[in-house]
Amino acid sequence: MDAANGPERQETVAQLLVDAAVWAPSPHNTQPWWFEPHGETVTLHSDTERRLSVADPSGREMLISCGAALFTLRLAVRRLGRLPEVRMASDPDRPGLIADVILGEPQSATDEERRMYDQIRRRRTHRGGFRAGALPVGLLQSLRAHACAEHASLRIVADPRVRIALAALSEVAEQVQCLDPAYVEEVARWAPAPCGEPLDGVPETAYPRDTDRTDPHFAGRDFARGQGWGLVGGEPGEATGVVAVLATTGDGRDDWLRAGQALQRVLLRATKDDVSAAFHTQALEVPELREFIRARFCDGTYPQMMVRFGVADDEFDSVRRPAADVTVGEL
Ligand SMILES: Cc1cc2nc3c(=O)[nH]c(=O)nc-3n(C[C@H](O)[C@H](O)[C@H](O)COP(=O)(O)O)c2cc1C
Repeated sequence: MDAANGPERQETVAQLLVDAAVWAPSPHNTQPWWFEPHGETVTLHSDTERRLSVADPSGREMLISCGAALFTLRLAVRRLGRLPEVRMASDPDRPGLIADVILGEPQSATDEERRMYDQIRRRRTHRGGFRAGALPVGLLQSLRAHACAEHASLRIVADPRVRIALAALSEVAEQVQCLDPAYVEEVARWAPAPCGEPLDGVPETAYPRDTDRTDPHFAGRDFARGQGWGLVGGEPGEATGVVAVLATTGDGRDDWLRAGQALQRVLLRATKDDVSAAFHTQALEVPELREFIRARFCDGTYPQMMVRFGVADDEFDSVRRPAADVTVGEL
C-alpha cells in the first residue's frame, strides 16, 4: 500500500487515515473528535460538544478516546510505509487541538503493524460474558508490553478477591449513577430508541438483550432501560474473562492521551488473537470510587480504564460517522 506521488495521493492518504481513525472506541460512541488534513499532515482535534458532560465532566474519557484515535492515525501512517511524526499540541487558546500527525520518513511496516492495522474495523466492544477457557499463551505478556510502550501500565487482576471487589464497585457505581436523572438522560441521548440508521451512539445491535451473570459479575451499562431492546440470539458466554486495569503514573491531559493510545494498541493486539474486550468504566466515573481503586488496587497509579478480556461468541455491531462528516478541509 505504498503511496504514489502528487496531490491526488495526498487526498487519498488523508481519507485513508481518517477512515481508520474514526473506528477508535469512545464512551457511548460519542466520537468526540474531528480532523483537519493539510498536505502530509492530519491535525486531530477533540470535539468538546460531544463530551459526556454528566459522566465525564473533566473530559478524561473524551481525551482517552482522542488518544485512541491518535494511535490509530499513527498505525495507519505505518501501514502506508511511513514513520509517523507526532507533534503534540498544547495551546491554551485552542484547547481542542490535540496533535499533528505528519507522514515522516519511509520505513516499511512490520508484519505485526500490518496485522494490527487489519483489526481496526474488526474490533468491537463486547458486552456480556466470555467463552470459558484460557487466553492464547503469551498474549497477556504481550498486551502489557504494548501498554508499557505507550507509557501506561496494564495491571492484570489475578487475585480473586480483587476481582470480586472491582466487580462489586462496578455494580455500586452503576446503581449510584442511575439515581441521577441527568445521567440517565445522558445515556438516553446516546442510546436512543431504535430507529433509522444512526451514525453515532450505541445502537440496539451493540448489546445483548439477555446476558448470563458471570461470577464475579461486572455490571453493564443499562442501554435498554427496561425497554427490551438488544440483540437476540447467540450463546451468552458465562466466564468473566481476564480483568485488567489500564493505569498511568499521572492524571493530566497528556496522561489521558497516553492512556488512549495504550488502550487502542492493546485492543488491536488482542483482536489480532480473536480476543475481545468489555469495558466497565462506571466506577472510574464516580470520583470517590476511582480514588478508592487508585489507592487500594493500583499502587497509587491512576486507573483510566477497567476492562475484561476474553473470547466472545456473540458478534455485536457498531456505527460511525463517515470520514467526510468529521473532517474540516479536503479529504
Ligand atoms: C473511555 C471509554 C469508556 C467506555 N466505557 C464503557 C462502559 O462503561 N461500558 C461499555 O459497554 N462500553 C464502554 N466503552 C465502549 C464504547 O461504548 C464503544 O467504544 C462505543 O460504543 C463504540 O463501539 P465499538 O468499540 O464496538 O466500536 C467505553 C469506551 C471508552 C473509550
